[in-house]
Amino acid sequence: MKVDGKPTRTIWVESDGRSVGIIDQTLLPHCYATVRLRTLEEAAQAIKSMQVRGAPLIGASAAYGVWLALLHDASDENLERAYTTLAATRPTAINLKWALDEMLAAVRNRPRAERADAALKRANDIAEEDVAINFAIGGHGLKLIEAIAATKKNGERVNVLTHCNAGWLATVDWGTATAPIYLAHDKGIPIHVFADETRPRNQGASLTAWELGHHGVPHTVIPDNTGGHLMQHGLVDLVIVGTDRTTAQGDVCNKIGTYLKALAARDNGVPFYVALPSPTIDFTVSDGVAEIPIEQRGPEEVATMTGKTKDGRVVSVQVVPDGSPVANYAFDVTPARLVTGLITERGVIAANRAALAKAFPERVNALKSAAKA
Ligand code: MRU
Repeated sequence: MKVDGKPTRTIWVESDGRSVGIIDQTLLPHCYATVRLRTLEEAAQAIKSMQVRGAPLIGASAAYGVWLALLHDASDENLERAYTTLAATRPTAINLKWALDEMLAAVRNRPRAERADAALKRANDIAEEDVAINFAIGGHGLKLIEAIAATKKNGERVNVLTHCNAGWLATVDWGTATAPIYLAHDKGIPIHVFADETRPRNQGASLTAWELGHHGVPHTVIPDNTGGHLMQHGLVDLVIVGTDRTTAQGDVCNKIGTYLKALAARDNGVPFYVALPSPTIDFTVSDGVAEIPIEQRGPEEVATMTGKTKDGRVVSVQVVPDGSPVANYAFDVTPARLVTGLITERGVIAANRAALAKAFPERVNALKSAAKA
């Protein structure tokens, strides 16, 4: 997508051929700054501190992190260290493990002298594949939006509600939940997005609003608790959210609060779609509520809020009483029964075991072969 007219991705190889550039997402929306990652440790820290975040971008960042590690030392020991260091950064988005496994498979059986080049090639491919997957998701999701637009009278806008940031900032480009929105907007379909602010880190208010605004997509930031009210009053045509891990039976783990939106959508007959790139499917897990590890982050994210003062300073302030304990669960699970459909790169499918296995048979077969070996 474009930042101030310049085509921009969220991660790239710098011109020195030895480092990786990223957008520091912790500074948005008040400051747009890029950062250069030179080592495994810097890549791991960027994921942990959420300078890069969003399941697909976490995966791509980890892939480049393995490359940076191998550039300095291509030994088996360092490859293992890279894998374990990066795997420990964030527990919920399965794209991280998927990307690390892909990197391991691409370099493990090669001579040391070839490993860094092979790692760079696979990391670049992972990034390109992400862009292609998201564009395909966009095309399939666009049809859903077009169908709703066709029912509108007098050119009324299609209202989409989204949660957190499953936009281009969460991926290498296009976003997952936002890809259909950008394509619809570019096609001239009147579309408007309600962006949940998404406490505690406010990815909706800070990131989704920023990127929609830069692309010219009409949007309104709403407090997290507003969605149900809007749905009761017929102001939301469909919900599209992202996912950090989708199970074999179609349960969807996404940013905390997604489940409540799904409940409100079901109660009000609003379609609830999940944009799902296939690396986000975890066929080893069935019951998302019982089996997916939910990241718990530091209390300061709940106890404080960061924003810009009238005189332009960015400051953090405490919003809870001194000493009040807080809880910070970063994700929740929406059971498959509440999901209207999964928008994948291979089409819109039902959120159930049979549909997922039919759409991605090679993934299921690979798992069966690995179990036999
Ligand atoms: O904690 P974050 O900001 O990494 O969480 C991001 C989300 O929950 C996104 O919705 C999800 O990763 C899907 S991104 C296409």
